[in-house]
Amino acid sequence: MTSNELRKKYLEFFKTKGHTVIPSASLVPENDPTVLFTTAGMHPLVPFLLGEKHPGGNKVTSCQKCIRTGDIDEVGDATHLTFFEMLGNWSFGDYFKDRAIEMSLEFLTSKEWLGLDKNLLAVSVFEGDNDAPFDTEAFEKWKSLGISEERIARLPKKNNWWGPAGETGPCGPDTEMFYWTGDPKDVPESFHDDHPLWVEIWNDVFMQYNKKLKTGDQKLKTDEYEFAPLAQKNVDTGMGLERVVSILNKCDVYQIDTFKPLIDEIEKLSGKKYQDYTKEFRIIADHIKASTFMIADGVMPSNTGQGYVLRRLIRRAVRYGKLIEMTEKFVAEISVKVIDTSGDAYSELKKNKNIILEEIGKEEEKFTAALDKGLKEFSKLTHIDGVIAFDLYQSYGFPIELTEELSQERGFIIDIHEFQEEFKKHQELSRASSAGVFKGGLADHSEISTKYHTATHLLLAALREILSPDIYQKGSNITAERMRFDFNYPQKLTTEQITQIEDLVNKKIQEDIPVEIITMPKTEALQFVKVSFDQSKYGDMVKVYKIGDFSIELCGGPHVEHTNQIGTFHIVKEEAVSAGIRRIRATVV
Ligand code: SER
Repeated sequence: MTSNELRKKYLEFFKTKGHTVIPSASLVPENDPTVLFTTAGMHPLVPFLLGEKHPGGNKVTSCQKCIRTGDIDEVGDATHLTFFEMLGNWSFGDYFKDRAIEMSLEFLTSKEWLGLDKNLLAVSVFEGDNDAPFDTEAFEKWKSLGISEERIARLPKKNNWWGPAGETGPCGPDTEMFYWTGDPKDVPESFHDDHPLWVEIWNDVFMQYNKKLKTGDQKLKTDEYEFAPLAQKNVDTGMGLERVVSILNKCDVYQIDTFKPLIDEIEKLSGKKYQDYTKEFRIIADHIKASTFMIADGVMPSNTGQGYVLRRLIRRAVRYGKLIEMTEKFVAEISVKVIDTSGDAYSELKKNKNIILEEIGKEEEKFTAALDKGLKEFSKLTHIDGVIAFDLYQSYGFPIELTEELSQERGFIIDIHEFQEEFKKHQELSRASSAGVFKGGLADHSEISTKYHTATHLLLAALREILSPDIYQKGSNITAERMRFDFNYPQKLTTEQITQIEDLVNKKIQEDIPVEIITMPKTEALQFVKVSFDQSKYGDMVKVYKIGDFSIELCGGPHVEHTNQIGTFHIVKEEAVSAGIRRIRATVV
């Protein structure tokens, strides 16, 4: 079975069960400052898990592009991937445990769908602790469907609990499904989750609690939290597409249809064999695939945030290419294979092919030139410290993680804190992973990001009024401290224009216009809402946010209820991002 076939089957199955199929959101979360990348299918759905109405109804299904960089050092083994696709189905207060488990089992074992052998399945459920009880419902349900008790492991929070990502928020027990990947003759009667041949294939999360501070408590101490039942009980499931395709085809993940052409190309370009250099091949293929998808979603190599992760992935791929003696440029050629194999399912790859190949090629070139010299310098070292690490970064573009990796290979003792201190001193680099922004999960839709979200709509409308009606959003990012907005415009804005834009936004804020939400079919909305980006990004039913006669936009929300909740709008900076694209940074206070 190919990736396209599995994706199609999954979405089709849940469609027959009354779910609305929704498109994948971008890899870069639009309005969530707490994470750098979309890490799970549920991530773009957080507002709906918290009770907001989804335009597609209360049952949806999707195949979501995800990036997880937490385990980047594990990439190279048989299962870890930086970029992967996650299939999922959601119930926003509709069905709960019984129905979710029934549907999971049907999809996995019915001849009409995956037709997996039920005798090779095992599951785990939450065993219970002081916060929440043993998940009897899930346990009993699996038993009633014919899964024997020996095949139902009872595991603690560490294994069978999901969320919240931050300190507080929706969370709950999950039940995980495992498949025996060894010889069917050898399948053990009982299930132990640490046996490597039992592989996790699907996770059904039952969000039924809200983790919050006990009433009256101010201090953040674990024993002062309580797990209060949620009014709206949700289901959030996740199935790793690549992993399941590999199981269905009884092959290594890197041999499935979306990886094989990449591996073949590396063999061709390097003259080496995958069996002889498995780890190097896997890292190169994984990193270039992730980089290709990131650029397609608008990330560019840089020294901070998403751009830094991208830079680090490309550079690590280049270095591993060097380890297998690839002397010519190779990154763009492998990236082409990613576009060829995944471009039908993800049209943004094809649409942005030129920019992807150009950016990836530029980054490779930049780094290749310095890499040889840097490695030569490194080979002369007898020890490593923060100052040397910083110098390698500054002079040869070695990301700190590369220096860490090289140091480990040489057996040097490294003090990560010292590295970080040295980098911090230079204020050059935000090492995203140490900022804790990789934790997946429920985002913080705080009041402040809601204000920025509405301010973004006002800004776009003001740009259209003052600069040109043909202005479109080319990118947007919100943190708790500021908003950033990219748009098309051929030249630098004058000080006068900036003041006019600022004044117009503030005028609309002072008018205290109500923000209206209307749900309607996409075809209808597109007759009067101007959007320049890929419309397939939206499902069939969309939400339209209207601010008087001033602004009308397709948007997922959330927004303030009326404009004077925003505060005072201030443009901090206006600059170029690339040819024809300007960027405004602004704050609200
Ligand atoms: N959020 C859960 C996961 O990522 C289920 O979708 O595994």
